Parts: sequence; C-alpha cells; structure tokens
Amino acid sequence: MTTERIRIALQKSGRLAEDSIGLLKSCGLHVARSKDQLFCRIKELPIDVLLVRDDDIPNFVDSGICELGIVGDNVFSEMKCAADNFSATVVERLGFSQCRLAIAVPDNGAVQKISDLAGATIATSYPHLLQDFLKRQNITAKTLVMMGSVEVAPRLKIADAICDIVASGATLAANNLRELTTVLQSQALLVRGARTFSPDKENIIRRLLARMRGALTAEDSKYVMLHADADKLPEIVKLLPGSESPTILPLRGHDDKFAVHAVCRESVFWETMEQLQAAGASAILVLPIEKMMA
Ligand code: PRP
Ligand code: ZN
Repeated sequence: MTTERIRIALQKSGRLAEDSIGLLKSCGLHVARSKDQLFCRIKELPIDVLLVRDDDIPNFVDSGICELGIVGDNVFSEMKCAADNFSATVVERLGFSQCRLAIAVPDNGAVQKISDLAGATIATSYPHLLQDFLKRQNITAKTLVMMGSVEVAPRLKIADAICDIVASGATLAANNLRELTTVLQSQALLVRGARTFSPDKENIIRRLLARMRGALTAEDSKYVMLHADADKLPEIVKLLPGSESPTILPLRGHDDKFAVHAVCRESVFWETMEQLQAAGASAILVLPIEKMMA
C-alpha cells in the first residue's frame, strides 16, 4: 500500500525559515537540509518539504503545488490583496516571526503626520496592502515599488516615506527613519489550499496541526509546583497565570500544609514567583513542558 504524502512550502533562508524548521522540530519532525537542497523528505510523517522564497509560498499553496505552507501574514495578505481569485486560507496563526508592516518617514522630512502623506511618494514592496491602507485613510499617494533596500529610498530622494517590515526597529534607526503608523501586524501563518484533499491527506494535515498546536502551547506553558498553608491557598491559586484547576495534595506529616501542582498556560516570570512567595508559597519549582496534547 502506498501512503499519500503532502507537501509543505517553507522559506528557504531568512528569519521565518529558522522558526519554521524549529516548529517542525518541536513536532518531532526532522528536516535534513543542505544548502542547495530545495526538496526534503520528512521520515517521521508522510510530509515533504519544499524550500522556496517566502514570496512564492502563497502561490505555491494557492495553485496546489503544495497542500500547506508557512508564511508571514505580510506576504500572504499582500498576495491575497493583489490576486483576484486567490483562495488559499489561513489554518492557524502560529505566533512566531512577529513583525509589523509600517509607514516610516525621515526624522526631519516633509511628512510628519499621516495626512502629510497626501501627494507623497511612498517606497514599498507591499503596494497592495499600502494602497488598501491609504484608501481607508482617504489619502491619495504615489507608490514606488522596490523589492529590496526600501529603507534607502528617502536618502536617495526618490521617496518621501517608506512602507516596510519592522521587527526590532534597527533598520529604521540606522537610516534615520521613524515609524508613523502601522499598516499590518504580522506573524507566521500556517496556510492551505482551499479545496478538500483526499481523506489520507486531510488526515496528515490534522495530525500535523494537532502536533503544532501542542508544541506551541507547550512552549509557553510551565508546570509549577509549590508548598503553601491551607489559608494561603485561595490567593496563591489566583496568582498562577493561565491555570485552570490546580491539583492540591496534602503534605505528609503536616495537617494544614499542601502541595500545589498546576499547568500554567502563560509565561511564568520571576515577578510571578516573587508574588507567590510574598503570598506565602515556598519550595516553588517551575518546570518546562516538552509536549502537550489536549
Ligand atoms: C526586513 C525589512 C527590513 C528589516 C527590518 O528585511 O525589509 O529591512 O527586515 O528588521 P529590523 O526592524 O529588525 O531591523 P528582511 O531581513 O526580512 O529581508 P528582505 O527585505 O530581503 O526580505
Ligand atoms: Zn522577503
């Protein structure tokens, strides 16, 4: 019997690439790749990986070359905005590779507020998202499409503003640009073709999605254990971030002292631990959770 395989398109190099491969790894899937290899087989599940430019991912998924893809919302939304009969859809927002598409201007330029953009020239690799934004703001401006090095356009005096991806803000700072407004908040998306695939393929997609959800929840979640007196329990339980129903166990040899075990689905910071301690908790342990399945 031959099992069907699905294809997933991933970015071949760049920030998204590392995070995408990292997510697959935390799903127990190993992508062995060499520099020029564009096609890799995953042996743990019937999945093949196609390593491509991120800009190609929406089309590869939409046209059915790949069943799935991991791509930034910025690239996906631009393509969706640009193409008339684009039907690929978002399966899951993955939470990593966060960045924003923003309009930025020179520190001392002619454009200082959004309304100053009227009649200005804006350099961008995202012409459709930009025009869509300007339309909503009732602003008419010219677009200069550049596929790279957009941040140098104001210095070259070929644009008054730029509309580009900002992550840490280092690129803007290095080019004496400041953010004027956000056009789109972006993060990595798992996307798929709109049509229903064979039952075998849909099953592989379901399994992969369950693993991804588990891996992403586990990453933020911690297992917390602590000791506390009975009268302190209500306050302590309230302080545990994102935990539904902690387990409370009596401690051997103590009448009114208990152990509290809880899965916290939100980050546990040092501040949280200090608050727990101040509320009367002792022997506080925070442990990572490797895998999780609801
Ligand atoms: C993006 C963007 C900026 C930079 C912003 O480029 O075009 O140049 O990242 O990041 P920062 O705020 O952390 O400085 P990217 O590295 O994705 O390369 P690309 O433009 O060639 O896709
Ligand atoms: Zn890119």
